[in-house]
Amino acid sequence: MVKAVEWIDDRVRILDQSKLPHEVTFIDCTDHLLVADAIKTLKIRGAPAIGIAAAMGLARAAQDISASGFDEFMKALEPIMDTLLMTRPTAVNIKWAMERMKKLLLKNRDESIDRLKALLIDEAKAILEEDIEVNKAIGIWGAQFIRDGDTVLTHCNAGALATGGYGTATAPILVAKEQGKSVRVVADETRPVLQGARLTAWELMQAGVDVTVITDNSAGALMRKGEIDLCIVGTDRTVRNGDVANKIGTYMVAVLARENDIPFYVAAPLSSIDFSIPSGDMIPIELRPDEEVTHIRGQQITPDGVKVLNMAFDVTPAKYVTAIITEKGAFRPKDIKKLTYRGVNLEELRIKA
Ligand code: MRU
Repeated sequence: MVKAVEWIDDRVRILDQSKLPHEVTFIDCTDHLLVADAIKTLKIRGAPAIGIAAAMGLARAAQDISASGFDEFMKALEPIMDTLLMTRPTAVNIKWAMERMKKLLLKNRDESIDRLKALLIDEAKAILEEDIEVNKAIGIWGAQFIRDGDTVLTHCNAGALATGGYGTATAPILVAKEQGKSVRVVADETRPVLQGARLTAWELMQAGVDVTVITDNSAGALMRKGEIDLCIVGTDRTVRNGDVANKIGTYMVAVLARENDIPFYVAAPLSSIDFSIPSGDMIPIELRPDEEVTHIRGQQITPDGVKVLNMAFDVTPAKYVTAIITEKGAFRPKDIKKLTYRGVNLEELRIKA
């Protein structure tokens, strides 16, 4: 399976997802500006994947800094972090990754600059490797909710391409399959950038999963016909009260799932949970260029000069979420904040199928 992002020969290698599924091409980023541009233009996307890419971008940029001491080194890194942080505002993973890199530096402030540079590379690589393990754990906790013969609806792409590997929303599906269950997936095409039609379909087919692409407008009709057993989606930022920001259209899926008595699960690595924000109303929602809506593959489809609103994400209130599946277990949204409590008994909080 191709990787969304890798550290190869002192460069950040990014699989250009804007060209998928028809072309598999890579961009070798020799500086953080190339990484920032790739994130901004959706060549790499998906919350965990952009966190990893940003960490690698920072590590790459650090190699070119000449500083005589720790404070000078940190000062030079700050604008680089800001550039990476400003690329996409909704997913919390870039902030999470930058904070982790900063913490590492502060802990090792007495080391030489050369050593700090090497530590940053190791940490960025560790973030990638850990993300794969986290997703496997999400898969194990999540697979219990999938029964033999189930059809899972997913929205956008929260698969291997959106992460270090394995995916978040796709992990329970892959584990259920490994457990010998028969699982079908229905992938919303996910307008305007078609992550479902282009990316989820592509990677699930490669993984041997039975996948059917539908237009976003079809989800409700299929649910009403009894053809969807459960929904699993990813998240760009889940907050303390269990509200979930994810790709635009996720809220509609969740409301339709409730109307049709279908469980709605969110696969959320802890790196995508922002415990500092009390409510989803405070999550910044990214607005993207009009052209993503007015054009399809370079062809204009709307009248000249029409007004466009292109919100990349929406917020699903916690009340529509059956459970949040993390690497530590599956929890009711109202309990997610308790993961930060000292001495919390996770076993008491975990929900089972
Ligand atoms: O705009 P995108 O493609 O970055 O949006 C991606 C999503 O909404 C994913 O569902 C989310 O990042 C979770 S990825 C594991």
